[in-house]
Amino acid sequence: MKRHLLSAADLSRDDAELVLSTAAELRSLADRPIKKLPALRGRTVVNLFFEDSTRTRISFEAAAKRLSADVINFAAKGSSLSKGESLKDTALTLEAMGADAVVVRHGASGAPHRLAHSGWVRSSVVNAGDGTHEHPTQALLDAFTLWRHLGEEKRGGLEGRRVAIVGDVLHSRVARSNALLLKTLGAEVTLVGPPTLLPVGVEEWGVETSYDLDAVIPKVDAVMMLRVQRERMQGGFFPTPREYSRRYGLDGRRMATLQDHTIVMHPGPMVRGMEITADVADSDRSVIVEQVTNGVAVRMAVLYLLLGGSESESNE
Ligand code: NCD
Repeated sequence: MKRHLLSAADLSRDDAELVLSTAAELRSLADRPIKKLPALRGRTVVNLFFEDSTRTRISFEAAAKRLSADVINFAAKGSSLSKGESLKDTALTLEAMGADAVVVRHGASGAPHRLAHSGWVRSSVVNAGDGTHEHPTQALLDAFTLWRHLGEEKRGGLEGRRVAIVGDVLHSRVARSNALLLKTLGAEVTLVGPPTLLPVGVEEWGVETSYDLDAVIPKVDAVMMLRVQRERMQGGFFPTPREYSRRYGLDGRRMATLQDHTIVMHPGPMVRGMEITADVADSDRSVIVEQVTNGVAVRMAVLYLLLGGSESESNE
């Protein structure tokens, strides 16, 4: 593995499979009464969140704590400094505190790259979501969830499996990281959304695209729904929310056209009634809550592998 995890493209197939198999081992901890391992004792993980987050921040915090690392949470929201300055100043502070890993979420695409390659910090940098760009640990937890559900761990993993990623692809770092990682793992991805919400140049991502949700979903093994990210939209990308839901929302009628084994995913936060109806979100096919559980195991695996947890463990 590289020293930083900035993009899903940083992971070779071997790297990604190592994260998934490590996460599988660590996942069993979640079911034990005592969920802690000493692997990262004495190491410091800083969670640096410039943008709102519920799941991702808590998930990284839980992951680091379960590996016995010290965790510092830094919510930088409300800073009046310009982004470049505040990032540099914060980075120097973190360096002074002796951070071993910095988990960063930032509204600006590329901020984690700046942190990793500026020379401001010596720690490993993990991208926990940068603007509309990437969110590699979300892609890893999604791949892990697919792996477990499609039951193909021993028979070629996700090779040839079909996944539809549906909705606001344009503003979604989750979609971009998933498209990259799923391709690395040999899956076939179709991005579905209105033309206004599919990015220009998406042909170069090496995936299929479609504007027709009904035509795509009966053929896939998993449907991943995306939130419509209104906070990143200035203009009108679709006529009305009602029209959007009618064409691109997953409701009970559409769910009935899925194959028996097909699962429904969502990275959260969901807007029930917009991209997904409550009955679908709460149905047996939905693995949305399990994605959150898996997120902790996958982030433990990432921190463990990046910080060389096995070495520090054997030194004790
Ligand atoms: C996503 C994000 O922040 O990119 N959520 C997450 O990390 N679980 C998706 C979103 O905000 O819709």
